[in-house]
Amino acid sequence: MFHLTSEQEMIRLMAGDFAKRELEPFAGKRDEEEIFPADVIKKMGQLGLMGMMVPAGYGGSGAGTVSYSLALQEIAYACASTAVTMSVTNLSCEPLLKFGNEEQKRKYLEPLASGEMLGAFAITEPDAGSDPGSIKTRAEDMGDYYLVNGTKTFITNGGYADLINLIARTGSKKGNRGLSAFIVEKGFPGFSVGKKEKKMGLRASNTVELIFDDCRIPKENLLGREGQGFKVAMTALDSGRIGIASQSLGIARACLDEAVKYANARRQFGRTISSFQAIQWMVADMATQIEAARLLTLSAANRKDLGLAFTKEASMAKLFASELANRAAYKALQIHGGYGYMTEYKVERLYRDARVTSIYEGSSEVQRIVIARDVLGSSG
Ligand code: CAA
Repeated sequence: MFHLTSEQEMIRLMAGDFAKRELEPFAGKRDEEEIFPADVIKKMGQLGLMGMMVPAGYGGSGAGTVSYSLALQEIAYACASTAVTMSVTNLSCEPLLKFGNEEQKRKYLEPLASGEMLGAFAITEPDAGSDPGSIKTRAEDMGDYYLVNGTKTFITNGGYADLINLIARTGSKKGNRGLSAFIVEKGFPGFSVGKKEKKMGLRASNTVELIFDDCRIPKENLLGREGQGFKVAMTALDSGRIGIASQSLGIARACLDEAVKYANARRQFGRTISSFQAIQWMVADMATQIEAARLLTLSAANRKDLGLAFTKEASMAKLFASELANRAAYKALQIHGGYGYMTEYKVERLYRDARVTSIYEGSSEVQRIVIARDVLGSSG
């Protein structure tokens, strides 16, 4: 058992209640019509859900990572698209907190945490996914500004984001060491939003291409030092992976609940299908693995709150929870039989939404690299 403080339990209940009222009834329609939940995001900002790891002194709710995970699980249970939108905005606060100077923190954290600004994180490029060291987008030092050229792809929130954490290449060093991080405001000249992706799942979330065409970024918007970009990205992704583990857990729990509801109602061979051992075993496996994923995720979050190293634990949580979400979605749909394949059943959306969790913010294969390196030490 993972003991929650009364404050954490209160946040979990508040997020669950909000999700039930504001998300659950509209999630199907938003998915079908690809409606970005802009109105809901504003309300979530007012509730303190967009900057949960940002201290109160910078306008956040300072609730901490365990509370963040709990809230995100509840949001994802109702609408996985809104969950990734929330997760990426919280993620975009992290580099500012860890690498930003006082002026940058004062300027950007409060609007992000309050939901007034939406954040995005731009690492991925057409030829740089698992390997950010091959990023081509270039930021040329022009004296008092950087001139940026390149294209980012698959950027969550990108079309609506007011602030983008950009990772681009500077100087002459190759690979990971030649990357730097920047804070881009959407109004900077030379910045534009490219094509919007049509996706298999998470269709109410926004995923776009970002174009930097002689984009001018003021010198003061360099985040951290030149050459620190890879570290900035990895540090943010460590937290981001706890977010995706939490999103995956929300999806998995929804799969289990849908499967149980259906199995208890559906009758075949003169009895409810939940009375068959084949169904019982699927449900038992799902419930057990959800509890294991919950403990892994909350433990990683707790380590972060305690100031302990949590890179390996975040990767373990993300690996296990995202693969579980996929398995749970498969089994829940299987229990629904032919009905599960029809769009009028929620499990069809859950199945599509689960798929990307083991791909983005580091695929399962990348998580295994991170975990294995830690376990094997320098000999690995
Ligand atoms: N925190 C801080 N520093 C870190 C770090 C971490 N978690 N991981 C690595 N570093 C540092 C290392 O210490 C090393 O520093 P030195 O050079 O000073 O020694 C440096 O970074 C290079 O590290 P590696 O040698 O481990 O780097 P690598 O090239 O072998 O890459 C990798 C390792 C784990 C594969 C990494 O590239 C990775 O995580 N790739 C996946 C990228 C990813 O997750 N992309 C997702 C995009 S964002 C997204 O999906 C958001 C969305 O829309 C929802």
